[in-house]
Amino acid sequence: MKKVIAIDGYAATGKSTQAKNIAKHLNFLHIDSGAMYRGITYFALKNFWFKNQINIEVLKDNIEEIDINFSIINQTQIIIINKINVEKELRNIKIDQNVSLVASVPEIRSFLLKKQRQIANKNNIVMDGRDIGSVVFPDSKNKFFLIASPEIRARRRYDQIKTDNKSATLSQILKDVKTRDKGDMSRQISPLKPASDAKIIDTSYLSKELVFDKIISLIEL
Ligand code: DC
Repeated sequence: MKKVIAIDGYAATGKSTQAKNIAKHLNFLHIDSGAMYRGITYFALKNFWFKNQINIEVLKDNIEEIDINFSIINQTQIIIINKINVEKELRNIKIDQNVSLVASVPEIRSFLLKKQRQIANKNNIVMDGRDIGSVVFPDSKNKFFLIASPEIRARRRYDQIKTDNKSATLSQILKDVKTRDKGDMSRQISPLKPASDAKIIDTSYLSKELVFDKIISLIEL
């Protein structure tokens, strides 16, 4: 296995931005594992949406039909599902509201875990997610876990999406952030929690630049 830097943490703590910048700085690949769960959720919303919810049983039965891949542009992945670039479809409220459910399914997690480990066999990577340090790469020497208050995270997410989604409200996003935290922390398999040897960084009152400097100063290669 090549070198792996694991950046986990709560939704909207800036994990992906940090992972991307650190990957650029080190000339590693950036892999956003949340985008993989979002990709599967997008596919499920399109194909297995019955009676106002994703039919998880049908999703599980068809998991091998999902050809999830990615191509790399500027050292960052673009998710490709069944040969279609779905990257632009992955960050919206509908996906936010359904992704925790999809990510709680053990069959989906083991399907993606295999893919995540395969990538690290061939590339030095910075991977961000929820269980990258705790489950996917427990032997990595470089594990970070980012936290911030729900209110600050909701505000960041709101600022990110309000240009595209005029109907988004801060209170709805805060509610979604809290619901997603609960789903991510309470699932039975790979719940969101720091690995015992992860370095915890509270990003609530730190600029992106300061978080970046802090992570870089702690990385041991
Ligand atoms: O980081 P994100 O918000 O794009 O992640 C989307 C969802 O995917 C999140 O609610 C939890 C799930 N996820 C996970 O369970 N394990 C990972 N390694 C990455 C994401």
